[in-house]
Amino acid sequence: MEQVEQKVATMPRIGEKAPEFKAVTTQGEINFPSDYTGSWVILFSHPADFTPVCTSEFMTFASMEKQFNDANCKLVGLSVDGLYSHIAWLRTIREKIEYKGMKNIEVKFPLIEDITMEVAKKYGMMMPGESNTKAVRAVFVIDPKGIIRTIIYYPLSLGRNFDELYRVVLALQAADEFGIATPADWRPGDDVIVPTAGSCGVAKERMENKDEMHCYDWFFCTKKLDKDTVLKKILKK
Ligand code: BEZ
Repeated sequence: MEQVEQKVATMPRIGEKAPEFKAVTTQGEINFPSDYTGSWVILFSHPADFTPVCTSEFMTFASMEKQFNDANCKLVGLSVDGLYSHIAWLRTIREKIEYKGMKNIEVKFPLIEDITMEVAKKYGMMMPGESNTKAVRAVFVIDPKGIIRTIIYYPLSLGRNFDELYRVVLALQAADEFGIATPADWRPGDDVIVPTAGSCGVAKERMENKDEMHCYDWFFCTKKLDKDTVLKKILKK
């Protein structure tokens, strides 16, 4: 039988080391992820410079950059456009675009030029069913050790929710700092999920210990974790 060689696109996965690359950006050369060791970093792609959804996203993300930096999280953008296109687009945003109360927005985080699509392909940002020439809106949240902790993809037509990305960064850090998990729609100050008890005895004890925890059943216990405690831990760095 004839063997048909199929080229399988690689996609990094949650829990794996972020693939390494060296790139030219609007802020100079970067070595990724090693330049970001010790910080959280969001690596995200956008389809193209000088397009409206991307412009609204960059203005929003840039206006929230300090908020992310205060949570020890840096931002790095990427598209398959060239450096001069990036520079011209970001200058246009700063000098001309006023949108939803945002104006004179300066994008200070690096924007990678990837005309060869090398990085976009390495990170599974090219999805031919959506476009052969533009990266989709991919988001990789990478921890201070360079491990991929969350991946989110959006199609070309759908602008991202940056409050959600901030929530993701806080929730991942809260999980690490406090050894908990976060339930649906969690925000700092909401109850958190404690790990499932390993034995019936522990579970029973937990269910009786109502002061500290609330158990809905043996496998589902929550406890209070106040907003100040969470934010003090995360925003102190
Ligand atoms: C946009 O950012 O507006 C956009 C980019 C590529 C395709 C469709 C929309």
